[in-house]
Amino acid sequence: MSEISIRPVKAQDINDVNSLEKECFITPWSIEVLLVDMFQSLYNRYFVVEKHGRIIGYAGINTVIDEAHIRKLCITTCERHNGYGLELLRYIENYCRNNGIKDLTLEVRRSNERAIRLYESFGFINEGIRPKYYDGIEDAIIMWKRDI
Ligand SMILES: CC(C)(COP(=O)(O)OP(=O)(O)OC[C@H]1O[C@@H](n2cnc3c(N)ncnc32)[C@H](O)[C@@H]1OP(=O)(O)O)[C@@H](O)C(=O)NCCC(=O)NCCS
Repeated sequence: MSEISIRPVKAQDINDVNSLEKECFITPWSIEVLLVDMFQSLYNRYFVVEKHGRIIGYAGINTVIDEAHIRKLCITTCERHNGYGLELLRYIENYCRNNGIKDLTLEVRRSNERAIRLYESFGFINEGIRPKYYDGIEDAIIMWKRDI
């Protein structure tokens, strides 16, 4: 049995999510942006990963008809390489399947080799580039997993 559990985010998780956001992303969203994205869009869904009662990761998707865009996915540094990122991806895929979504997409920094390998091992395919997407400097790789 897995050591982690995954569930929809709740309002009281915001400080933990905000801490993870700062730890895991080069240009973290502010707490205000996180709050709006997590709780004020009908089309967004966020999930947190818990281990022994502590939040160690989270992910968020935006859905458009039968597509879902993975906006966020992270695991705290000291819990990486345990397969939790993959478990979180599986959870998202199951959620999407159960909710009529056919295709998954995301953008990832060209330099983020670990994330790209994880997505490729999960069946995502590189379908294009958004030049200088991150801060006008770094390219984004656009990946898709279709017909999930
Ligand atoms: C990308 C990210 C979510 C991956 O999380 P993770 O929990 O480490 O992911 P996993 O453990 O499932 O897989 C990552 C690696 O661990 C390996 N792994 C999985 N289970 C393992 C185990 N039991 N023992 C050793 N290694 C393992 C995987 O094969 C993979 O190896 P690779 O990087 O050499 O391909 C995490 O690195 C992260 O939060 N990064 C910062 C935020 C980020 O960049 N997010 C993506 C933005 S698009």
